[in-house]
Amino acid sequence: MNLFDEVIERRDTGSLKWDRMQAIYNRVIPEDTIPLWIADMDFAAPRCIREAIDQKLQHGVFGYSFENDACQQAIIHWLATQHDTVIQPEWILYHQGVVPAIGAVVDAFTKKGDHILMTEPIYPPFFHVPEQMDRTAVYCPLKEEDGTYTLDFALFEQALRDEKVTLFILCHPHNPIGFTWSESELKTIAALCKKHHVLLLSDEIHSDLVLSSEKHVPLLKAAEQTDHIISLFAPTKTFNIAGIHAAFIFVPDAARRLTLKKYFERHFISSLNVFAIAAIEGAFSEEGARWLAQLKDYLRTNSQLVVDALQTIPGVRVQKQQATYLMWIDYRDTLLAEADIMNALLDHGVALDAGSKYGAHGKGFLRLNIACPKTTLTEALERIQKTFASFT
Ligand SMILES: Cc1ncc(COP(=O)(O)O)c(C=O)c1O
Repeated sequence: MNLFDEVIERRDTGSLKWDRMQAIYNRVIPEDTIPLWIADMDFAAPRCIREAIDQKLQHGVFGYSFENDACQQAIIHWLATQHDTVIQPEWILYHQGVVPAIGAVVDAFTKKGDHILMTEPIYPPFFHVPEQMDRTAVYCPLKEEDGTYTLDFALFEQALRDEKVTLFILCHPHNPIGFTWSESELKTIAALCKKHHVLLLSDEIHSDLVLSSEKHVPLLKAAEQTDHIISLFAPTKTFNIAGIHAAFIFVPDAARRLTLKKYFERHFISSLNVFAIAAIEGAFSEEGARWLAQLKDYLRTNSQLVVDALQTIPGVRVQKQQATYLMWIDYRDTLLAEADIMNALLDHGVALDAGSKYGAHGKGFLRLNIACPKTTLTEALERIQKTFASFT
């Protein structure tokens, strides 16, 4: 049996994905509903992480901690071996999560009334976080050609010319669409932001999860100049440890680093907790890398299961997937209204994300999380097929 075939009961474990659906969807749902929504996997974290945490647990003393050399070296080694990228130790800052780190960067480097630019559709906290901080989210819609997404660079530059735009947030690889940015696109994005004095924040939380033959190229590696770039990474998507809360912020520019450090001091943001530090060291190891390779194989076959099942549904098209364990399903040709399909899916016991959650251009799409055992996914896909069939 494949490691990832094991079905682990997650109901009644305080799991947001499994135990909060009723509240999230704000309606009654069948008790056996399969959650394919939030980006959280139904797999146990690798043994190397559990052992590292257990070792800390057995030590029994959980006093104040800090991200020591071993933790720092584990991160540097991971970026070097997985992404062929050199990270200087002094560049690394830490935060409890990538979303809180986005909040910190928005707050520390932009002011009320500024415009924060992003692609669209996009992971919702990219616009929610700035809006909660009285900034305005502005969008550069992604351009699709034969299933390939990119930026319209003329439109992008036009948006950057607006002096109110002070920050561009890049999602790399892209959530929800699941594509990777190419090295040449990244070079252009970095150069245009530099030219127009716009800070560039690159969220690379999904960087380890490229499933296609493309490689993840960190923006810091692709860009010719890096003093206007801040990059966010984490082990949490890769190893399914989001509940442990850990993220890293790479800030090559010393002045910006100081600004962010001072911001953290003012907001009492201190080091990661002892278990998060242990988890990072455990994760970014040879065993972690081997587990990740197996995970990606499993996700590739799950991705194919989705393509095989959903391409049989008239009017439904599955976006070619390069990265992440999230798939972007286009049902625009069915002409179904979003509320109708979402309700019907829930009636059939399967919970996906509605595309409009990711912005206006997400309308007519669904986001589907494939990170679960094959038996669970197969059952969910049958329910999705029945849902669409119920409209014919
Ligand atoms: C692009 C992106 N950034 C950030 C996050 C969440 O990061 P964190 O849990 O560290 O706040 C997610 C979670 O799905 C994500 O997809």
